[in-house]
Amino acid sequence: MEESEKRKVLISGIKPTGDLHIGNYLGAMQQFLEFQEKFESVIFIADYHALATAYDPARLKENIYRVAAGYLAIGLNPSKVTLFKQSDVREHTELAWVFNSITTMPYLMRAHAFKDAEARNKEISVGTFDYPMLMAADILMYDADVVPVGQDQKQHIEFARDTAEKFNRMYGETFKLPEAYIKDDVATVPGIDGQKMSKSYRNTIPLFASDEEIKKQVFAIVTDSKGESEQKDPESDNIFALHKFFSKKELSDLEKRYKEGGIGYKESKEILYENIRAFVTPIRKQYDTLLGDRSFIESVLEEGAAKVRPKAEAKMQEVRRKIGVTL
Ligand code: ADP
Ligand code: TRP
Repeated sequence: MEESEKRKVLISGIKPTGDLHIGNYLGAMQQFLEFQEKFESVIFIADYHALATAYDPARLKENIYRVAAGYLAIGLNPSKVTLFKQSDVREHTELAWVFNSITTMPYLMRAHAFKDAEARNKEISVGTFDYPMLMAADILMYDADVVPVGQDQKQHIEFARDTAEKFNRMYGETFKLPEAYIKDDVATVPGIDGQKMSKSYRNTIPLFASDEEIKKQVFAIVTDSKGESEQKDPESDNIFALHKFFSKKELSDLEKRYKEGGIGYKESKEILYENIRAFVTPIRKQYDTLLGDRSFIESVLEEGAAKVRPKAEAKMQEVRRKIGVTL
């Protein structure tokens, strides 16, 4: 195949640190799905990234199955997308070490994720600090062109680009510079408290939640205390923020009723609950079925790792040669 005919390479991953939520879906997974035919896609489970904060082996293992089942349940097709588990391809951690050695502490201290983690807990792991180097290795290993992620990951992609440039400058052209793909309207999906939806903030609506869980979370969305007939500003309401994703059909009507004072928060939540439930029900069914067939999930991940391993091995051989450790 001519170079110009080659499809661009897409790479992304999610840490198995808890249940997937609708922020993960809208901000990242939906884009994996949208591009599965257009790009040569490599989607993985970032289990070694999770290790920096998750120390319960049984939990980690369960979460790996869950993220894999989630990828498959939303419709990623293993014959079109390569799905694998990061720890199955040893070269990722090896390359991260090489990047550690050409990166300085002051540079990594600029990371927002590190600063946030440190502000919340002084005893953070070296892995949390070093996280961007493993992520750079994940991306640069496969000469990725496009990395679909949410806004919170933007700086990490910039770190990967900087690291590629630095290595190329020091040892000669080796790595391609990747581009983040961040979709504007879903860059930061808000949680039920209006902050960014995140596993770490306990403000999520899980992607494969039961009806009861969806209801509980939707009815816990934080609002002001305006009564039904009071005029409301849709743009400052946390329920309306989620209607934008799940209630597209009713959106202009809802907006009108908010502004006129023709809807209470309770009714707005009921509509949102029904719409999220309608979205979740079919994929949850798939998810539950997949989780019941663990050996299928294992075989998908093993096949995926076998497919990417030769590329990672070739890249690492080139790197070892360039840095001077190959005799
Ligand atoms: P969490 O913050 O819940 O731990 P992850 O860090 O595992 O989520 O994120 C996995 C992917 O989902 C990343 O690409 C991330 O940018 C995206 N993502 C996570 N939360 C959101 C959100 N609230 N809005 C948009 N994208 C998100
Ligand atoms: N850091 C990402 C997150 O927290 C997960 C991740 C690890 C990733 N390696 C990656 C995303 C490589 C894109 C590309 O969500």
